[in-house]
Amino acid sequence: MSYTTYKILHLFAVLFVFLSLGGLTLRAMDRGDKGKSPARRLAGMTHGIALLLVLVSGFGLLARLGVEHDWLFPPWVWGKLAIWLILGLSVAWIRKKDWHRALWWLLPVLGGLAAALALLKPTI
Ligand code: HEM
Repeated sequence: MSYTTYKILHLFAVLFVFLSLGGLTLRAMDRGDKGKSPARRLAGMTHGIALLLVLVSGFGLLARLGVEHDWLFPPWVWGKLAIWLILGLSVAWIRKKDWHRALWWLLPVLGGLAAALALLKPTI
């Protein structure tokens, strides 16, 4: 796949990740996240698949950019991987009553940070 195809896939997947996280957060706020519902299942499944796509397309982009595939990834890539992990773990955190509001504001900020890391590629 070309660089542009990976980039488009990456952006689509990112949008679905945040759509799902928003849905899951609102549901947890309103209902205390009790029990399973078709909506919760849809959002959970979308979140998982989209997160995987973010990772796959992210590594595809790295390959097209010629960034080495070893432990010597540049710091901005490690930053993005850390944010990716947080976005994954946040599905569990969203269920915690005291965390809803903080995550509502924090998660999009982390998404913006992940985008900034790709754009600026800081070397520290
Ligand atoms: C955690 C969620 C993530 C978000 C919200 C995110 C967001 C973005 C956005 C918005 C761009 C486009 C920036 C531009 O206009 O060039 C981008 C590009 C990119 N992302 Fe991610 N990303 C995420 C995770 C990852 C991960 C885990 C990786 C690596 C495994 C990755 C690798 C890349 C690469 C290599 C680019 C292209 C940089 C370039 O074109 O110079 N991203 N990301």
